[in-house]
Amino acid sequence: MEKKNIDWANIGFGYQDTDKRFVSNYKNGAWDEGTLTSDNTVTISECACVLQYAQTCFEGLKAYTTEDGHIVCFRPDLNASRMKDSCLRLEMPVFPEDRFVQAVKDVVLANEAYVPPYGSGATLYIRPYMFGSNAVIGVKPADEYQFRIFTTPVGPYFKGGAKPLTIKISDFDRAAPHGTGDIKAGLNYAMSLHAIVTAHNEGYAENMYLDAATRTKVEETGGANFLFITKDGKVVTPKSNSILPSITRRSLMVVAKDYLGLEVEEREVYVEELKDFAECGLCGTAAVISPVGKIVDHGKEIVLPSGMDEMGPTIKKLYDTLTGIQMGRIEAPDGWIEVIK
Ligand code: PLP
Ligand code: COI
Repeated sequence: MEKKNIDWANIGFGYQDTDKRFVSNYKNGAWDEGTLTSDNTVTISECACVLQYAQTCFEGLKAYTTEDGHIVCFRPDLNASRMKDSCLRLEMPVFPEDRFVQAVKDVVLANEAYVPPYGSGATLYIRPYMFGSNAVIGVKPADEYQFRIFTTPVGPYFKGGAKPLTIKISDFDRAAPHGTGDIKAGLNYAMSLHAIVTAHNEGYAENMYLDAATRTKVEETGGANFLFITKDGKVVTPKSNSILPSITRRSLMVVAKDYLGLEVEEREVYVEELKDFAECGLCGTAAVISPVGKIVDHGKEIVLPSGMDEMGPTIKKLYDTLTGIQMGRIEAPDGWIEVIK
């Protein structure tokens, strides 16, 4: 299989058209068999529920070329299950989980020429998504839906790769208690756009969102969960019902405990304690683990002891072990790696 002529080492996190995408339509209460198509456009009613009332959710995962030349993806069953949760919350029909995983595999294989080579620093990002497609004008769910999966080769989410980031505590809230923060709904990202543009204009890479009820506890960023390392080497991650249950974060907690022998804690994390942590990282499919060097709280700078030059030692070990598992250099726990080819 001849790979596309792409400068893998220098691509950022952007959209690039690839050859095929998966499309399945839901009508009269059932999903059709689905197909791979070359058509990268979507035609829907001007009054489609997704356009009027944002009835849409999505997922994100990656395909990797392993050291021994296989193409794999990482825990796609968890993306299927999280998409089910998103669909139920948004009154959308569930795309069966086994079919979701099969469609991911089919679409990756159909775009094999775009799967970045081992060691290139790039990966193939996979974006499953669903939306209400028929006309709805009263506020109610659609009756017809489209489920699609496209792929696009990507490099690091944050410019500068593994350089520590400076982030700010946001004055905007991302999610309400009992709201939709724990699902991957497009609406959560729409309302974060003003906050992220504001942060970028002020020179910050990301926002740290706090809990909307008390604004004393750390939630997550616009696209990743937090991990903190205490000065005595414990891995701490915020517990909250209004953050996305990151598959990367859940995996890293297992890696920390079972592979690195570290103590792990999922608990409420207060803004007050930020100054006491040794390291901080953002974790997610796109972010992998991106180190944070500085958190700015309304002008007050909290500089992590790991500094602004490189990843802290524990975050680095977590990063190396997780990416080692994903790229086939380190044996994975049972069921984590789905071999595509
Ligand atoms: N939090 C938010 C808001 C996200 O958009 C993402 C990305 O998917 C994550 C966390 C990380 O989740 P995952 O590790 O499953 O990619
Ligand atoms: C992902 O990590 O897959 C996401 O969906 C995050 C998004 C901000 C790109």
